[in-house]
Amino acid sequence: MAVHSVLMVCLGNICRSPMAEGILRHLAEKNNLPMVIDSAGTGGWHAGENPDRRATKAMKERGIDISKLVARQFSKNDFRQFDLILTMDSSNYHDVVAMAHSDEDKKKVRPILDYSFPGAGSSVPDPWYGDMDGFYKVYDMLYKACEILIDKEIHEKR
Ligand code: 4NP
Repeated sequence: MAVHSVLMVCLGNICRSPMAEGILRHLAEKNNLPMVIDSAGTGGWHAGENPDRRATKAMKERGIDISKLVARQFSKNDFRQFDLILTMDSSNYHDVVAMAHSDEDKKKVRPILDYSFPGAGSSVPDPWYGDMDGFYKVYDMLYKACEILIDKEIHEKR
């Protein structure tokens, strides 16, 4: 079945997952693919905030505006709303899987870098404590993974 809705999940929902949301939305629009795309954090400390200004800057420099996104916490209800839930690192993955109601829910959860490096268990590094360079690296990693995602989950299955 083709994927129509994707939720990106990280820890704070102010750096990695809003970047992933913006990149996937950009690629879906470029490919004329109607998709529902959102992001959330396993933690709720930043709920209600816009993305980190460094994330917004890195994205803006590449032509994607994420300045108006608003952080929210992941909830169990998200398993009902989304076909695919993509996590940024192993701790997000385990936290989300631990909230699954069923095996069917668990099957929706996947580390986003599995698209680029299948089975390697790679993580998108948290850029929060670093400098701008970390945000550019995160952008490149997420862009590549989202391009492969569009090919594998959308084009191949339609
Ligand atoms: P994110 O980055 O999970 O990529 O949004 C973080 C943002 C904030 C914190 C940790 C990670 N924090 O501890 O406040």
